[in-house]
Amino acid sequence: MGFFDFLTEEIAIDLGTANTLIIHNDKVVVDSPSIVAMDRRNNKIIAVGQEANQMQGKTHENIKTIRPLKDGVIADFNASEQMISLFIKNIPSLKKRFFTPSLRMVICIPSGITEVEMRAVRESAERVNGKEVYLIHEPMAAAIGIGVDIMQPKGNMIVDIGGGTTEIAVIALSGIVCDKSVKIAGDVFTNDIIYYMRTQHNLFIGERTAERVKISIGSATEELENPPEDMSVQGRDLLTGKPKEILISYREIHKALDKSIIRIEDSVMETLAQTPPELAADIYNTGVYLAGGGSMLRGLDKRLSQKTELPIFIAEDPLRAVVRGTGTVLKNIERYKSVLIK
Ligand SMILES: Nc1ncnc2c1ncn2[C@@H]1O[C@H](COP(=O)(O)OP(=O)(O)OP(=O)(O)O)[C@@H](O)[C@H]1O
Ligand SMILES: [Mg+2]
Repeated sequence: MGFFDFLTEEIAIDLGTANTLIIHNDKVVVDSPSIVAMDRRNNKIIAVGQEANQMQGKTHENIKTIRPLKDGVIADFNASEQMISLFIKNIPSLKKRFFTPSLRMVICIPSGITEVEMRAVRESAERVNGKEVYLIHEPMAAAIGIGVDIMQPKGNMIVDIGGGTTEIAVIALSGIVCDKSVKIAGDVFTNDIIYYMRTQHNLFIGERTAERVKISIGSATEELENPPEDMSVQGRDLLTGKPKEILISYREIHKALDKSIIRIEDSVMETLAQTPPELAADIYNTGVYLAGGGSMLRGLDKRLSQKTELPIFIAEDPLRAVVRGTGTVLKNIERYKSVLIK
C-alpha cells in the first residue's frame, strides 16, 4: 500500500450493449440502460441511463438518443466515454469527493473483440481517470459471478445471452478453451418482434413496446407450463395510419423468435463439438450455465436442454452475474491475475 493509495478508488464495470453496471465498495452503484440523450445543436449530453431511456423513440429534432454500444462493441466512442464518465461522477460516495479520484478499474469486454477495439476501451478508461485499467473477457467474468471455480482442471460451459451478443465459452484452468460470439441476443429478439408485428399484423410498433412484449410474453417454446396471459399491443396501423391495438399470445412471439433461437442453439452445438473430450465429459456431468438478460426468456433453458441433452442452469441474478464476477476479480486482483488480459 502506497502513501497515496487513499486517493485511489476501485470500480468494476460491465459495459453492456443494453445495460451498464458498476460495482464500488462491494455494492452495485450503477445499474442503468446504456443510453445517452444528446442535444443536436451543441452535442451536449442532456441525460444518461434511465432518464435517456424514457426519451427513446419520443425525441424531436433537437434531441437524439444514442446507444453507444452495438453488437457488444463500442460503436460511438465519444458518447460511450461521456456516458461512463457521467455514471462514475454520479456514484454517491465519489460525488462527495473534492476532486476526481484516480481509479483502479476492471472492465469486462466481449470475447470476440479485436485488438484495436480493446485498446480503444483501455484508452477510454484512462481518459476517465483510470490509472490502473484491467480487462477481462465477459464469459470469464460471468463464470466467476455464477460461482464456478474457474481455476480447477475442469471444464465448464457458460452461455451469456446479453443485449448485443451471445457469448459461449468453455472455461478450464483459468482460461477460455473454446468460444463463440454471435450477434444474436436480446436486441435481435426485439427486432424480430417488430418485424413480426409489421408483416403479420400490419402494426408498426416502437422498440420500447417490442421490448415490453418480449419481457412480458416472450417465449422460446410453443408449449409453456405456466403461460402468460395474452397482451394488448399498441402501435400504428400501416394501412390506415391510425393508432391501433391488437391482442397477442406468447405462441406468436415464439414464432417471431424461433429463427434467432435456432441460431443460438446451433452456436451452442458448434462450441460443444469443438470441446476437447475430457472437458466435454466434465460438461456432461455439470451441465451448462446461462447468464445475461436474454437467458430469462421463457422456456429457453428447457429448449437448450432438449437440444443439448444436458442440464441447464440459469444464474441466480442473470443480469448481474457478469458485474459480480468483475467485482470479485477487482477485490482479488493478485489471485485472478491469470484471467486478466495483458
Ligand atoms: N425477462 C426477460 N426476458 C427476456 N429478455 C430479457 C428479460 N429481461 C431482460 N431481457 C433482455 O436482456 C437484454 C439485456 O441483457 P444484459 O444486460 O445481460 O445485456 P448486456 O450485458 O447489456 O449486453 P451485451 O452483453 O450483449 O453487451 C435486453 O435485450 C433485455 O431486453
Ligand atoms: Mg453483458
